Amino acid sequence: MRLTPEEQAMLAGEFGPGVKKAIEIVTALGKIYGAEDLVAVTSVQVAGVSYKNLGEAGLEFLSEWAAQGGQVRVPTTLNPAGLDLEQWQELGFDATFAERQQQVIAAFMAMGIAPSCTCTPYLAGNLPGFGEHIAWAESSAISFANSVLGARTNREGGPSALAAAITGRTARYGLHLVENRRANLLVDVTCPVSSASDYGALGILAGQIARNRIPYFRGLELAPVRRGEIGASNQATSVEGVQTVDRLKLLGAAMAASGAVALYHVAGVTPESEQPDILAGERQTVRIDDLSPGYKMLNSDGDDDRIDLVWIGCPHASLDELEQVVDLLAGRRVQTALWVTMSRFLRQRAQALGLVQALEALGGRVVADTCLVVAPVKGLGFLRMATPSGKGAYYAPTHSGLDVRYGSLAACIEAAVSGRWRPD
Ligand code: F3S
Repeated sequence: MRLTPEEQAMLAGEFGPGVKKAIEIVTALGKIYGAEDLVAVTSVQVAGVSYKNLGEAGLEFLSEWAAQGGQVRVPTTLNPAGLDLEQWQELGFDATFAERQQQVIAAFMAMGIAPSCTCTPYLAGNLPGFGEHIAWAESSAISFANSVLGARTNREGGPSALAAAITGRTARYGLHLVENRRANLLVDVTCPVSSASDYGALGILAGQIARNRIPYFRGLELAPVRRGEIGASNQATSVEGVQTVDRLKLLGAAMAASGAVALYHVAGVTPESEQPDILAGERQTVRIDDLSPGYKMLNSDGDDDRIDLVWIGCPHASLDELEQVVDLLAGRRVQTALWVTMSRFLRQRAQALGLVQALEALGGRVVADTCLVVAPVKGLGFLRMATPSGKGAYYAPTHSGLDVRYGSLAACIEAAVSGRWRPD
């Protein structure tokens, strides 16, 4: 592999042991995947932040790397942690867990990473441009960055993303190369796909078919993505554009959960979809004409219709999604716990807009920094959850021990008000 003099100096330990460890990881991956050289990255998203997943071994690994002088060189954001870093006591989290989680955050901060703690960094200020090389972990964010932004990242793991942040480089292979970004699975959607939960159900079905291939969707009626409609400005140029962003976020997250889809294209919608050779080469064609198998798969068995938790915000919610929750409640108090999870960055904006206060006056909570998959939910006493998120519904039974009811946002809000599940 060709290395620049600076990269060779990193490898020789001239920048200290933390940088040496990082460049060793980056070059080892490059050798495994046949990269010819490294490429500079403009942004990194680090996953593996929750103490629930890291445990003591992960905490020690991070603390040691920080002590060895591992410092990030490029803008770097963090995935969700295991709890809301400010409201954890009110929400009922365990104090020992909170202490360990704070130590994890302290290790990342010692490396120069701000505790953004969100899986939607693109809604919280980390918005890479078209064609930029980045190194992101977190499967839903990877999918969004590649597909909706047209940035280029492989599916990084926690340590490899951190290594990219410390060196400012990643190995040039896989989705960093234009020729590997062409679709190799044509998905013709012939049934109506309209609500957010429809997109989640479609994503779960398509992900199972695609596995790690690159789907190209035809038949989805969405407004084209315009860059001004992504991000935290809350100054969308059209309602349709905001809905496109939220629906693509849900579609990609679900496909990355049931399959390993890191990039997809939607005809006339996503930025690379109209490139002349995007469909060149070998490909299979499949048709999806019914979403009901996706809905069925995401609903746990059993007749008990009681609900004690409703979760919105997987991936972390946008301001528009929070606003829809408040509107659908229409002044009614909730009977269940109702959590809207979002970045702390957007929570602060929502607070300035009065949305947090509006939801909390009706008994709901806007929870920052975490989610119900990476948090130690079993200790909070919830049994049965309703959600309109395909990824959340897919993971919650195994990761959090919850029975799940999956349906539209409107059905979930009605469940929060009545405590009972009535599917659409
Ligand atoms: Fe994000 Fe947690 Fe869902 S990390 S994508 S809210 S499972």
